Amino acid sequence: MSFEINGTTFPQAPRAGQCLRTFLRELGHFGVKKGCDAGDCGACTVLLDGEPVHSCLIPAFRAEGRPITTIEGLGGEHAAHQMQQAFLDAQGFQCGFCTAGMILTCASLNQAQRTDLDAALKGNICRCTGYRSIEDAIHGKINVEESVEAGGAFGRSLPAPAGPDVVRGQARYTFDTKADNLLHIKLLRSPHAHARIVAIDRSAAMAVAGVHAILTHEDAPSVLFSTARHEKDWMDPEDTRVLDDVVRFIGQKVAAVVAESEAAAEEACRRLEVEYEILPALIDPEQAMMPGAPRVHPDRTTANRVADAQRNLVAEIHGEFGDVASALAASAVTYEGTFHSQRVQHAALETHGGLAWLDATGVLNVRASTQVPFLTRRALSGIFGLPIDKVRVFCERVGGGFGGKQEMFVEDILALAALKTGRPVKLELTREEQFIATSTRHPMRVHIRAGADAEGKLTALQLDVLSNTGAYGNHGPSVMFHAVSESIAVYNCPNKRVDGFVVYTNTVPAGAFRGYGLPQAVIAVEAAIDELARQLGISPYDMRRRNIIREGDPMLSPPESEYHDVLYGSYGLDQCIDLVEHAMQADQPAELSPEWLTGDGIALTMIDTVPPAGHIADAMVTLNDDGGFELTVGTAEFGNGTSTVHRQIAATVLATTVDRIRLRQSDTAHGGHDTGAYGSTGLFVAGKATQAAATQLATELKAAAAGAWLCDAATCTLEDEFVVSGVRRMSFVELARLAREGGRPLAGHGNSEGSPRSVGFNVQGFRVAVNKGTGEVRILRSVQAADAGVVANPMQCRGQVEGGVAQALGAALYEEMVIDAQGRVTNPKFRDYHLPSFADVPRTEVFFAETSDTIGPLGAKSMSESPYNPVAAALGNAIADATGIRFTAPPFKPDRLFPALHDKFGS
Ligand code: FES
Ligand code: FES
Repeated sequence: MSFEINGTTFPQAPRAGQCLRTFLRELGHFGVKKGCDAGDCGACTVLLDGEPVHSCLIPAFRAEGRPITTIEGLGGEHAAHQMQQAFLDAQGFQCGFCTAGMILTCASLNQAQRTDLDAALKGNICRCTGYRSIEDAIHGKINVEESVEAGGAFGRSLPAPAGPDVVRGQARYTFDTKADNLLHIKLLRSPHAHARIVAIDRSAAMAVAGVHAILTHEDAPSVLFSTARHEKDWMDPEDTRVLDDVVRFIGQKVAAVVAESEAAAEEACRRLEVEYEILPALIDPEQAMMPGAPRVHPDRTTANRVADAQRNLVAEIHGEFGDVASALAASAVTYEGTFHSQRVQHAALETHGGLAWLDATGVLNVRASTQVPFLTRRALSGIFGLPIDKVRVFCERVGGGFGGKQEMFVEDILALAALKTGRPVKLELTREEQFIATSTRHPMRVHIRAGADAEGKLTALQLDVLSNTGAYGNHGPSVMFHAVSESIAVYNCPNKRVDGFVVYTNTVPAGAFRGYGLPQAVIAVEAAIDELARQLGISPYDMRRRNIIREGDPMLSPPESEYHDVLYGSYGLDQCIDLVEHAMQADQPAELSPEWLTGDGIALTMIDTVPPAGHIADAMVTLNDDGGFELTVGTAEFGNGTSTVHRQIAATVLATTVDRIRLRQSDTAHGGHDTGAYGSTGLFVAGKATQAAATQLATELKAAAAGAWLCDAATCTLEDEFVVSGVRRMSFVELARLAREGGRPLAGHGNSEGSPRSVGFNVQGFRVAVNKGTGEVRILRSVQAADAGVVANPMQCRGQVEGGVAQALGAALYEEMVIDAQGRVTNPKFRDYHLPSFADVPRTEVFFAETSDTIGPLGAKSMSESPYNPVAAALGNAIADATGIRFTAPPFKPDRLFPALHDKFGS
């Protein structure tokens, strides 16, 4: 057999049954990605006979003799294809994991297809961008500013440094590497929601050719830990083992098979015989604390940071300011409602996974798809009793995270397998495993009571929240604390009460997810504000203006926080409300046929710019011989854009251009420390550390020049890659030479500990049309205003807002993991889950408040996580405005809306 790939003939033959995707990757075409292996995402798109196909669905032998083009072969040897260039010009990507497939599809479109992108792009999913920048690329729009003067990078729309590699398929993600002598891991997972493992018979499985090891709880350390990664371990309960003798949800790993091939490992998994003692399972969180309910972790105690294991209670929170009951009784108007938020998945296109090996010096190396390499190293060191310098964790480019990779779901088993076998090992989760065995957003039941006086001033706010953390408590306590804090602290109100309960159930664990609890609480709070306003005849905008905190007001939610480091580094909430109101009122609702009801809705959110209790980042900048700089940071790039912004910060402080800043990142071997790329800290914390390092180096540069000139360093400035003092100028190249000759390299170190913290704000507005006959919801207008301080990179920040809105709209309108009565996820595929595609996502108008933060780097604030938070709430308010019905349980799908619409409006 022979295959013509990118104009070159390959004589290799595929294995029996092998799909084209894996065949191409084995030949080194790493631009061909896997998002689902089921034909649902398009990450594996290649051109076959010039037509885009999902290579995961094509048997490789069918491509014999037919020209195949992967992203690596789309352009010429030295020049990008015009569509690759268009994606660069428009920056039509974030993490870039979908980009190769997306570009190939776009490059193949004819003129007719270009006029119907909804249909033409339905086979390619992007989880990051919200599609607007992709559409811009197709239409040849240029969004980047290419040329910026030295020292002028900050605040400009500069392109991502990895862009050329991303669009040409050369960017390397976790699995884009060849390793010799590699063994493959497959996991046997529990079919039971709750069971004790009585025995595992490995004999038949070990007989499979190529099997090297079968690892069970008997091989795993007995150390308890949390898969959640935080700077402070005490934030999460210790309730997890690498492999346990009790399984607590369907999908929990029971055993790991390590074999020469994935096929052998899968076959051995099928042959493992496990004897289970079935235990009673708890599926419904409402029953968790009831007498007689099955107990998920009966042996855990407060010493394990589990509040009350006998009541399945991981954590609880209670507090009150003032007297809510009396205030409600005296209020002119009140509102009470119960809201349920569903279980949704991050659906980052790159699944969890990694490689691990022991190097010649005995260091355990782990290359993983992670947002937290440094904290993962610390965890592995603790679990396996290895000195910290004997563990290295790093990531290449990460194909999306959204909080889901602030966990350690695979690195522990990779480490165990590498240590046991002494061979390099690989584990790549399937899309189904991603759904059934990683983490999800916490489903919550939020009961709210709220009151206001006749002037529309809030008198009382009360939240009663039940959060389902699933079988393990990773992030459960922190998500709850976050959910009930900023959601009500953004409003002045003399009487507030919070009761929160985080409970275990025998279901797939919940964990960190963009917004971290706020979207679930905000949907109730913002509904209550609207309902009070409606009763009083006050506009939703004015109701909020009368009650929001203003700069200097205390930001309070009960119980009183032990952290007092949240300050108004800047304040732009009032501007955000004005911006959204102005945009929403720019025109009138469109005239639609009578079955459509239209309405407007808004919601606002506040977010602390850093999580509490410490978030640490180190940075180092060194001057290179060529007068450029090397910047080393620990934080990972997973589409959040920090690698762009960190270079902008360093280039601005050092009076140079971003192309002179070489970036090394996300590798524990590079020294320093970084808590991780989560909570939007990449800009606010690691960016501050970068600013500090660059500032120190700038001082060093001036001192070195002043030393050579025998003048006062205070007379020196940096200008256009020179140190200048009066008429004297010394280039950075010359300074590097002097430093080298003096045996003292010039470098700056910076550190940030994430305190004090500031606050950022987002306001979302929607205009919707709801079909009263079918329950269909159409978005007629989407507007978001964000207070991001000085916007470090407007193009990129706009993309983060658009992507956050798109992802949140998926959860608000379609996405829902369905769990049956046995605790099984019944829709663990993209096909049954409905990720938003190009046709589903409306264009969002994005506005920025004009503020400058006194705490953030060069005046900036974080803005990746928070755009998600007000979306479902604003949509719920818009639907209520249109229909007069308050729907309380997203997703707002037609079948959810139809019964109430039918009751009210008839058929
Ligand atoms: S990996 Fe082929 S369509 Fe998703
Ligand atoms: S850029 Fe499209 S999935 Fe990340």
